[in-house]
Amino acid sequence: MDSDGRRKFLGVCLAGTAAAAAVAAGYPVFRFMAPRSGATGLQKLVISAADLQEGEAKFFEYGGSSAVLVKTKGGEMIALSAVCTHLGCIVQWVKEQQHFLCPCHGGQFATDGTVLGGPPPRPLAKIPVTVTGGNITIG
Ligand code: FES
Repeated sequence: MDSDGRRKFLGVCLAGTAAAAAVAAGYPVFRFMAPRSGATGLQKLVISAADLQEGEAKFFEYGGSSAVLVKTKGGEMIALSAVCTHLGCIVQWVKEQQHFLCPCHGGQFATDGTVLGGPPPRPLAKIPVTVTGGNITIG
């Protein structure tokens, strides 16, 4: 490769690097300005109300994390993060006692996410839920 060829090759490499840097710098701006679909800024999920009976819980992925929808024995729908606020383990639903139990250190949460006992410092984070007709919309 002569010096002219090297210069052209170097120019192509620099242009590629500059283009990659521009894309990397612009992505956060794009994410910030992109339309969002839910109150939480996350994709909405729709579940059929018939899929959940009173006193039961259904776990699902929401925003890249574990979440849970509970239908209380009174018929209220509550969606919560299933990530324990102590050290981040995933809580389990204890149907017989109608509460959540964290398997890691025994933290307990009520159906509305409030702490009943154990080391968790805060309630489980709530996720907006709306019920229209036969559908439950989460997010
Ligand atoms: S991580 Fe849940 S109680 Fe410790």
